Amino acid sequence: MPSQNDKPGQFIPPVPFSDLTAQHAALAAEIREALTRVMESGWFVLGPEVEAFEQEFASMVQTAHAVGVASGTDALTLALLSLGVGRGDDVITSPMTATFTALAISRTGARPVFADVDPVTLNLSPRSVSERMSSSTKALLPVHLYGNPSEMSALLELADKEGIPVVEDACQAHGATLRGRPVGAWGRVGCFSFYPTKNLGALGDGGLVTTDDQELAARIRRLRNGGQSNRYVHEEVGLNSRLDELQAAVLRAKLPHLSAWNERRRTLAALYREALAESPLDWVDALPDTAPAAHLLVARAPDRDRLQEALSEAGVQTLIHYPVPTHLQPAYRDLGQGEGACPEAERAAREVISLPLYPELSEAQVERVARAVVSFYR
Ligand SMILES: Cc1ncc(COP(=O)(O)O)c(C=O)c1O
Repeated sequence: MPSQNDKPGQFIPPVPFSDLTAQHAALAAEIREALTRVMESGWFVLGPEVEAFEQEFASMVQTAHAVGVASGTDALTLALLSLGVGRGDDVITSPMTATFTALAISRTGARPVFADVDPVTLNLSPRSVSERMSSSTKALLPVHLYGNPSEMSALLELADKEGIPVVEDACQAHGATLRGRPVGAWGRVGCFSFYPTKNLGALGDGGLVTTDDQELAARIRRLRNGGQSNRYVHEEVGLNSRLDELQAAVLRAKLPHLSAWNERRRTLAALYREALAESPLDWVDALPDTAPAAHLLVARAPDRDRLQEALSEAGVQTLIHYPVPTHLQPAYRDLGQGEGACPEAERAAREVISLPLYPELSEAQVERVARAVVSFYR
């Protein structure tokens, strides 16, 4: 059966990088019921399912408001627009992320400015951020990469000193906590993606914004719906970025399982670490006092490219997150932050490898991956 990462008819390795068919098979009855409920209701965009999901998600993140939108990229774009970020402004973010983070900044008309990452967590280094802040900096946009919370206290302190907001890119970190507080509740706005392979994934695209600020929430609600305050009254130039009822209903069926799925991911990550304790893999680590979402399991690996090839031959699918840091993407050539601008991110891009990690992965599969890694380095 084809999986998310395979074209129809392609061979599926014994250890695929992800396996959404397994997740959906386990929840088939709930998901079918959700889809049927929406189909029979005749209401497909911004309706009762979206409203209920927003409340349920806000309660998980412990924020007063949540607003469902069309994607994680749109969540970031709308968050920045709602804060008045636009042309002439700079937003400082991490180069070690899905490039979509920076695309959202660019879409507002603002300029992404990349600070370097911490070599242990690969999340934004507060020291590098402070060096790159200027009078044009209008917001900080840390990414909770791989599901590991960023150093929010230090970043908030820097932002507060300048009176600018922090927008969290929590697109990989649903359910993660830092010192007991969920990500998405630390900054002025938190942004989530429901791309199918995320810890909480839709059957297509989806996203959501969290905030405690009622005015911002109201503005984001307006902006996601073309800037309309009332039907046919467009108060400002907004986007069409609405979450649909089918996706919200599916996400509602999955949300109650998120916490157990994250726990299972953490258990499997611990198993990998134990099995590979003697190997030269150097794990990307979370800060102390965090419950990571364990979205991806990432290590620096000597001779990374040859290891990836050997694993592929052994039936283990791996990916690189990310092979090209955002400041070196062709789309950002004109920004002037070339090679050497973020040395730690550049080094990480050459060294990291992501091993398969998802709740449905078996212990036997983890052992198979571990054996293949050990055999490569022997
Ligand atoms: C860290 C990060 N930010 C932003 C995004 C963009 O989310 P989406 O694909 O839902 O637009 C993603 C996912 O691709 C992501 O991993």
